[in-house]
Amino acid sequence: MIPNKEISAPLEEKFIKQWEIKEYCLIKKFKSKKNQVYLIKAEMESGLTESFVLKEYADGTKDMEKEASILHKLQEKKIHAPILYYMGKKHIVMEYIQGQLFLDFFEEMEMAGPLEKEAWHTACATASSLAYWFKNFYKVMENHYGKTMIMYDINLRNFIIRDEIYGFDFEDCRLGKKETDTGRLCAYLLTYEPAFTDWKKELVREFFIIFTKNLDLDPSLVKEEMFKELESISQRRKLVYPMEFKT
Ligand SMILES: Nc1ncnc2c1ncn2[C@@H]1O[C@H](COP(=O)(O)OP(=O)(O)O)[C@@H](O)[C@H]1O
Ligand SMILES: [Mg+2]
Repeated sequence: MIPNKEISAPLEEKFIKQWEIKEYCLIKKFKSKKNQVYLIKAEMESGLTESFVLKEYADGTKDMEKEASILHKLQEKKIHAPILYYMGKKHIVMEYIQGQLFLDFFEEMEMAGPLEKEAWHTACATASSLAYWFKNFYKVMENHYGKTMIMYDINLRNFIIRDEIYGFDFEDCRLGKKETDTGRLCAYLLTYEPAFTDWKKELVREFFIIFTKNLDLDPSLVKEEMFKELESISQRRKLVYPMEFKT
């Protein structure tokens, strides 16, 4: 447990009143590259307990307002994403999605070994479910904004499996082409450690086929976006990558 004084933005009075919270504590701080994200456990006056996720934004209110408004929209249209409970001055409070991060899921499937057909099929089935999640996400965004909004920050820590797939982290959403999301997703899938294994390459082939077909994407544009992202990942991490992934 983290001492409450270590959190720079504790729950706001208004939220505490709304939920009739008697006391709360910080259970953990999530790994996050940009923001401060905490798991909070609260006990209500009624004696019931509830877990919340508090996300405090590094870059001020604009990102927060964008994310809150998207979460609200997704919730309204029943897309699997955390329920937004509260927007404060510098943070939001949302539903805690208790499940397995995509990153851990794919690691587990790969660890099962190349001969584990069941793990392989589960990984492919998850690719289809994710493509379906994106199909719905793009539809809702398009209806709302009148243009194609993409997620952009598509790393594997932004999806959780809890019976079904849940997506979160929408502060980087922007106008763009769907091919960018899929291309970037393929680049991320390939480069988590250990990078470029045969298993990952095969998985990305599946993702590529499933996403291109289900989202009606331009395959050469997806490849272009994947190469672009691989190039920037390799520069960032000083990662040498196989020739077959160079343009
Ligand atoms: N609603 C949630 N339920 C469960 N875990 C969450 C939730 N929101 C965030 N997390 C965890 O916190 C991490 C960071 O949150 P995220 O919104 O992705 O912030 P950042 O913009 O800094 O990447 C996620 O990778 C995930 O592990
Ligand atoms: Mg994130």
